[in-house]
Amino acid sequence: MSDIKILLKDVKKVFEMEDVDTYALRGVNLEIRAGEYVSISGPSGCGKSTLLSILGLLDTTSEGQYFIEGTDVTHLSIDEAAEIRNSKIGFIFQSFNLIDELSVFDNVALPLRYSTENFSADQITKRVNEGLEMVEMSHRAGHQPNQLSGGQQQRIAIARALVAEPAILLVDEPTGNLDSKSGDNVMAILADLNNKGTTICMVTHDPRYANMAKRQLKLFDGKIVMTEQPA
Ligand SMILES: Nc1ncnc2c1ncn2[C@@H]1O[C@H](COP(=O)(O)OP(=O)(O)OP(=O)(O)O)[C@@H](O)[C@H]1O
Ligand SMILES: [Mg+2]
Repeated sequence: MSDIKILLKDVKKVFEMEDVDTYALRGVNLEIRAGEYVSISGPSGCGKSTLLSILGLLDTTSEGQYFIEGTDVTHLSIDEAAEIRNSKIGFIFQSFNLIDELSVFDNVALPLRYSTENFSADQITKRVNEGLEMVEMSHRAGHQPNQLSGGQQQRIAIARALVAEPAILLVDEPTGNLDSKSGDNVMAILADLNNKGTTICMVTHDPRYANMAKRQLKLFDGKIVMTEQPA
């Protein structure tokens, strides 16, 4: 049981609007174990981002249950959700979501400064420098994100996502805003991280990149319709 990082039990999500209800997730069951690399693909509107938002505690379920490392996180207060998010989850988004007013170093340091673990300044410096080294961006620590290429920005976002050593890394279309060479570079970093033990759940449209995951899920109309485990 202990190596199950993520468990969804019959999760449903309805967006209730004035005139229409949208059923974005219609009963998703999902188990992700430590060290897995799972991809989720499927047509536009099938619920991929909704699923990732729920996994990242950015949104709540309408029905069903969600457990992270055995703890029921289905019904948390906003503060409780933020605390678990900060300590257990790393995010990488299509749009990088870096803060242009902060240096590269301070962007990567953010999760540590928001952590409830009270990292010392020395610990923060050490971890941020290690993170920047991992993505080969140490030479840009003092730059601002808007002075970097898209591929470089995404590598900074990866360092930021990993600096607090999250239990699981959630990735939404990480290559969507990148040329193919930068995209390949980002995917190589993710594959390397997974080989070193990081648990990854990635949403992607790109079948070539979905193939790099060790388990591939297909979402269709709010349900997982197919899973593939390459030999
Ligand atoms: N905040 C919201 N309010 C109302 N409906 C929403 C909301 N967010 C998503 N939806 C609806 O839920 C369904 C799933 O959306 P979602 O963003 O999860 O799709 P997706 O698979 O990520 O699509 P894409 O590949 O285009 O990013 C869609 O029909 C969408 O219109
Ligand atoms: Mg989406």
